[in-house]
Amino acid sequence: MFNKRIKVKELLQSEQTGHVVTVMGWVRTFRNNQFIALNDGSTNNNLQVVATLGLLDDATLKNITTGASLKVTGEVVASLGKGQKVELKANTIELLGLSDAEKYPLQPKKHSLEFLREIAHLRFRTNTFGSVFRVRHSLAFAVHQFFNEKGFVYLHTPIITSSDAEGAGEMFRVTTLPVDGSAAKNESGEIDFKEDFFGKSTNLTVSGQLEGELGAMAFSEIYTFGPTFRAENSNTARHLAEFWMIEPEVAFNDIEDNMNLAEEFIQYLIRYAMKHNMEDLEFLDARLAEEEKQKPQAERSEMGLIEKLKFVTDNQFERITYTEAIQILLDSPAYKKKKFKYDVSWGIDMQSEHERYLVEKHFKKPVIVTGYPAAIKAFYMRMNDGCEPGKETVAAMDILAPGIGEIVGGSQREERLEKLEARMKDFHIPVEEMSWYLDTRRFGSVPHAGFGLGFERMVQFVSGMTNIRDVIPFARTPKNCEF
Ligand code: 4AD
Ligand code: MG
Repeated sequence: MFNKRIKVKELLQSEQTGHVVTVMGWVRTFRNNQFIALNDGSTNNNLQVVATLGLLDDATLKNITTGASLKVTGEVVASLGKGQKVELKANTIELLGLSDAEKYPLQPKKHSLEFLREIAHLRFRTNTFGSVFRVRHSLAFAVHQFFNEKGFVYLHTPIITSSDAEGAGEMFRVTTLPVDGSAAKNESGEIDFKEDFFGKSTNLTVSGQLEGELGAMAFSEIYTFGPTFRAENSNTARHLAEFWMIEPEVAFNDIEDNMNLAEEFIQYLIRYAMKHNMEDLEFLDARLAEEEKQKPQAERSEMGLIEKLKFVTDNQFERITYTEAIQILLDSPAYKKKKFKYDVSWGIDMQSEHERYLVEKHFKKPVIVTGYPAAIKAFYMRMNDGCEPGKETVAAMDILAPGIGEIVGGSQREERLEKLEARMKDFHIPVEEMSWYLDTRRFGSVPHAGFGLGFERMVQFVSGMTNIRDVIPFARTPKNCEF
């Protein structure tokens, strides 16, 4: 057995000395032909390996370069250096893999995030991305733990689908038909998808919600956690073409239950990371503080990362209606001084500048907005009763987070068959093709609600990373699909 190693994190945590251990990892730095900073990805803290003068021949010394991989066996001794309690006095050092110092793109210095995005295959080896992806892992694990503790069933909804859940039409087509124009056409001259692999037109899913609802109508509470795809041409710091979404769906929940669940869930995830990833969060906090210093005073955030996370777990989210939100915007100095690029009036789909004003300037905390105009929200959202004609609203909720904007989108669902069918007709959604969905309303329909949390936006929030491309290992964005 080759792998009888102890992880660097574990070794650094124990204060025991005098025993012999083996470690393996990659060289971060090598100083004075004696001191190797070794990292194995378990923590940002490197293990100091001391190669006593004379232990290594000249050829080996030359090959201990940044990025090279080593197997070291040695004695754990108390460290005189600051920052660590123990270090490893090497008995043997074996070079596992060389790394040409001239060609290795990661030098022991600060690289820009933009540059590191181009070498995303190596950026895991930096402190920033080490921390980000350990935090991402923890949050993913916490998602499952949260729902498992509550007795939700994890439902795997399909990736390939023939329905457009959001009705937004921003889908990637899935087909095996030829793209050279030779695909069979029907009488009207359109491509005949009967000839396609599935015998119909199919896409990558934009959301698992509709299938999730089917599960909730049997298990009472389910959640999905999987990749979703949107062909929206948004080149922003908050949009990906492939992102991960968590979608709980709960029978017997109304919109208020839904808000309570979402708030509890977000706070749980943050607490989990604070409990299990404090070392990484401290690193990211310091990184963000550095980044903030580059900004003009007025644009700097008032709180540090950890301070902000604590604040969000310790305080309730603000809850307001869409109508109230619009009024706040209309009354704002920003609106009066014409600082908004987009106009404000009842009925608009709020732009990110409006959402940011509400959370960052006005409330300074996460805000849950409910009761959006029916016209700007998806067909499945429940119509609110007793609305003024022309001012129909739905039981929708969006959660807006400081620095992120929309982090959650959800609603109570329209459980009344006739109302749902009427909404589908308004949106020109073929009712016959969605018969399977409508069956839930035909056979034992119940009030139910759910939401979708954008996982990357959540990781952004917890890690303080400004660009969504830096919280997913390999980002897919318009004109970019490397690796
Ligand atoms: O608001 P959305 O479109 O809602 C749905 O898809 C519903 N079916 C959810 C549900 O009720 N089950 O998306 C939900 C969340 C957004 O709030 C946002 O956090 C994230 O998904 N999201 C994106 N994240 C990254 N890149 C994109 N292009 C995203 N689009 C949405
Ligand atoms: Mg939304």
